[in-house]
Amino acid sequence: MGEISSETRFLHAIEMGLGAWQWGDRIVWQYGFGYGDEDVKGAFETSVHEGIRFVDTAEAYGYGLSERLLGRFIAETDQPILVATKFFPFPWRFRKNSLAGALRSSLGRIGVESVDLYQIHWPAVTMSTDTLMDGLALCVKEGLTRTVGVSNYNQTRMLAAYSALARQNIPLASNQVHYSLLNRTMEKNGTLARCNELGIRFIAYSPIEKGLLTGKYNPGNPPSGTRGRQYASLLPKLQPLLKLMTEIGQDHGGKSNSQVALNWTICKGALPIPGAKNAAQAQENAGALGWRLTEAEVARLDEVSDQVLGENK
Ligand SMILES: NC(=O)c1ccc[n+]([C@@H]2O[C@H](COP(=O)([O-])OP(=O)(O)OC[C@H]3O[C@@H](n4cnc5c(N)ncnc54)[C@H](OP(=O)(O)O)[C@@H]3O)[C@@H](O)[C@H]2O)c1
Repeated sequence: MGEISSETRFLHAIEMGLGAWQWGDRIVWQYGFGYGDEDVKGAFETSVHEGIRFVDTAEAYGYGLSERLLGRFIAETDQPILVATKFFPFPWRFRKNSLAGALRSSLGRIGVESVDLYQIHWPAVTMSTDTLMDGLALCVKEGLTRTVGVSNYNQTRMLAAYSALARQNIPLASNQVHYSLLNRTMEKNGTLARCNELGIRFIAYSPIEKGLLTGKYNPGNPPSGTRGRQYASLLPKLQPLLKLMTEIGQDHGGKSNSQVALNWTICKGALPIPGAKNAAQAQENAGALGWRLTEAEVARLDEVSDQVLGENK
């Protein structure tokens, strides 16, 4: 592990967070159909009760509803909450000042004076990396965020962001990317190792592969909506991996597949932020903490995940 700057040390101390894309999103998660405000409030409260205080939201989630719900829940708890939100680089945003403007709107919805982490949601088409990093630096200088990060950045772009911020003496705190036993691109291409080397927190989104790694979905019972189409070809291949996860979970006193999936990302040096729609899911996911897979178990999971993903053939 490389040197971790004092500003970003708190992020490296966080073992797991809570994703809030589910809070208000209808397109992928069908918020309002089968679950709603009270359920996600339960997910928040249960997580906080279990010591998980880092919540990841974005201005784009539910068109601002996720941030508003988070603000409501923060106002109702006496626990300190660490907030991460994101800037969406819409094509009509092309100035560095757009970032502080967007962050002020996010702060208004969340009802706080500053956040702990402000991230670029996706690389932009209308703004260069330098302009985006200048915008993030302004957010830090104006006291609107404690640290800044990126998301969905490949290694080349991440290193460019790291250098642009370094010129202003600001550390790149994190890169939030898709990472799970069913998506290891960022591990295989060296981005995970590079993050750990440079002290950039590697935040894993979709760590239980949008529910697939729980084992509750199969070809006869696919997830509803867009996920069903996204995973149509993967679903029939999962059984060997799910079977191994269950066996390993049993060796640890009955840990569930989602707990094994999350623990595996932690063992790899990532900070997972599983999304939860309700208290029961949040409670189960919190059980990923307080124990560790052995090195041999991680190696076996790697091997079977490679086989499922069609690598090493
Ligand atoms: N930066 C980005 O571009 C980006 C992209 C994606 C996500 N994210 C962030 O990462 C977070 C997590 O990723 P994600 O939401 O895509 O996927 P995920 O965490 O892998 O999966 C979450 C979904 O899995 C199901 N689930 C969760 N826990 C469960 C449990 N214990 N038992 C059974 N089912 C369970 C729920 O859906 P069902 O009950 O409907 O199955 C839940 O909505 C998001 O909330 C968001 O904050 C960021």
